[in-house]
Amino acid sequence: MSYPRIAGTGSSLPERIVTNAELAESVDTSDAWIRERTGIGQRHIIDEAESTCDLAERAARNALDSARIDPATLDLIVVGTTTPDRIYPSTACRLQARLGAGECPAFDVQAVCTGFIYALGVAEKFFRAGGVGRALVVGADTHSRLLDWSDRGTCVLFGDGAGAVVLEASDSPGVMSTHLHADGRYEPLLYVDGGTPRGAGHIAEGGAYTKMQGNDVFKVAVRTLSRIVDETLAANRMGKVDIDWLIPHQANVRIIEATARKLGMSMDRVIVTVEDHGNTSAASVPLALDTAIRDGRVQRGQVLLLEAFGGGFTWGSALVRY
Ligand code: UT7
Repeated sequence: MSYPRIAGTGSSLPERIVTNAELAESVDTSDAWIRERTGIGQRHIIDEAESTCDLAERAARNALDSARIDPATLDLIVVGTTTPDRIYPSTACRLQARLGAGECPAFDVQAVCTGFIYALGVAEKFFRAGGVGRALVVGADTHSRLLDWSDRGTCVLFGDGAGAVVLEASDSPGVMSTHLHADGRYEPLLYVDGGTPRGAGHIAEGGAYTKMQGNDVFKVAVRTLSRIVDETLAANRMGKVDIDWLIPHQANVRIIEATARKLGMSMDRVIVTVEDHGNTSAASVPLALDTAIRDGRVQRGQVLLLEAFGGGFTWGSALVRY
């Protein structure tokens, strides 16, 4: 059987940084409240002229460079995104054309903040089925385009970005297992109302804004992520002590701390980027992964537990030997 192993990673953030203090000039909030309740200090916000695919392309090129892989040799491209440049073609098809990645299958998956884990899970199944030797998996979102900037309950939480991994077939894992779930009955707690995104920076008439019952989402997220940690360890007959790094979705440091407590892990074995990036939706896990690989914390051979939770509700995890 063929497993995917991570051959390279990359990421990309828009240049513009928006601090908590800047947001406090336009909505009734404060740096102290945002830091205490979420752990967020700043976020990167995309300019009008740029798009999700621009971020995805930079992250993908970084990942391909670090893997030393020619895009023309890719067999598959999967992009997790909820903020595509266009309704169609998919961001993955646009990315394929820009990278010169031949005629390999290319498609998006939409699972909001779990988008990257879903994309990784789908790619993993292609490898296991055989026939795919190299894949590019991207999580990219410009969630700032789905925000009502007068709603302090949501506008302080999100940022924009992209992260990517290049996977290569290997006889041994690699990605050991992925676990994907959804429960559509929770839609009223987290959804986008109104219109549909229309190209870079443009929202169709009527607006399209994230609506969230934050406190209720928080409680379900903590409960659900605890469960998926157990499921992932049991599926691999592993214990909590076997995990070297927890690389969680970066929505709220208090959710991350609760999952780490469940694993009995001290926070110095958890990758936390939420302070600098905010919640970058599908980009958050691969951005955190790339950050920790590039700064030398994550080393070859270590076991990583990746997890995410988001709108849908969707949630998922991946156990990876890097
Ligand atoms: O990644 C996708 C999934 N999303 C998440 O995982 C987000 C999960 N939820 C959260 O992270 C947290 O629930 C929030 C950060 C959104 C909110 O924190 P909380 O501790 O759950 O606060 P809360 O919603 O219970 O609100 C507490 C108070 C309220 O005021 P009152 O009613 O007690 O007077 C809010 O109006 O905080 C108020 N509040 C704010 N105050 C200052 C809400 N947002 C803000 C704000 N600044 N930005």
